[in-house]
Amino acid sequence: MYLNKNDIKNLDRIYRLNVINSITGIKPANLIGTVSGEGIENLAIFSSVVHLGSNPPLIGMFSRPDKEVRRHTLENIKSNEVYTINHVKKDHAKQAHYTSAKFDDDESEFEKCGFTPEYLEGYAAPFVKESSCKIGLGLRDLIPIRTNNTLLIVGEILHLIVPDEIVDEKGQFDLTKMEGTGVSGLNVYYGFEKINQFPYARKEELPEFKKSV
Ligand SMILES: Cc1cc2nc3c(=O)[nH]c(=O)nc-3n(C[C@H](O)[C@H](O)[C@H](O)COP(=O)(O)O)c2cc1C
Repeated sequence: MYLNKNDIKNLDRIYRLNVINSITGIKPANLIGTVSGEGIENLAIFSSVVHLGSNPPLIGMFSRPDKEVRRHTLENIKSNEVYTINHVKKDHAKQAHYTSAKFDDDESEFEKCGFTPEYLEGYAAPFVKESSCKIGLGLRDLIPIRTNNTLLIVGEILHLIVPDEIVDEKGQFDLTKMEGTGVSGLNVYYGFEKINQFPYARKEELPEFKKSV
């Protein structure tokens, strides 16, 4: 398949959405836990979570425009300034997917999709009990992407909850053991298989590579 800018513009809307959402490869599947001013717990699947820096420990994620559709996650983050990011385990992919449905203001995806809210004392955002990696963040920045009215939400890690057995002595996670989930496009889910591990790449230690095409 070859497509230029014009071909992309003229694609059927759903086909274009599937193609463009797939081309960046596998993205992590995470559930964002928030609570509204009225105390309604909210959960939404986001695949745009990215690492921004380790010191201070910052994580970014992108929120779609909130002009036509109400975005509970964004509203709750703006009003409470705390939110959680929770990895989706393979066995929970289906119920995690359905958190993307448009639920009413007084409905909680925790209840509707079968997840259990869990709290740390003194921290207002709900974690997902079923998740193997739970991150509690404090809002630090909201950066508008003017080209398409999306927002980069920047958060600092305030709490990190991970089972000891998936973290090695160097602090690296085994995502296979963690039974994590990735997403391609907006509805195709993958498991993770560890294929290799390499040392820090130094020019002086470069292995000999041969082209394979
Ligand atoms: C696999 C998948 C990934 C998604 N990733 C994002 C995302 O990164 N950012 C976003 O704003 N919405 C994303 N969505 C859409 C939200 O899940 C959806 O708009 C949801 O209704 C938001 O719920 P809320 O109104 O409770 O915040 C994604 C949906 C799916 C199915």
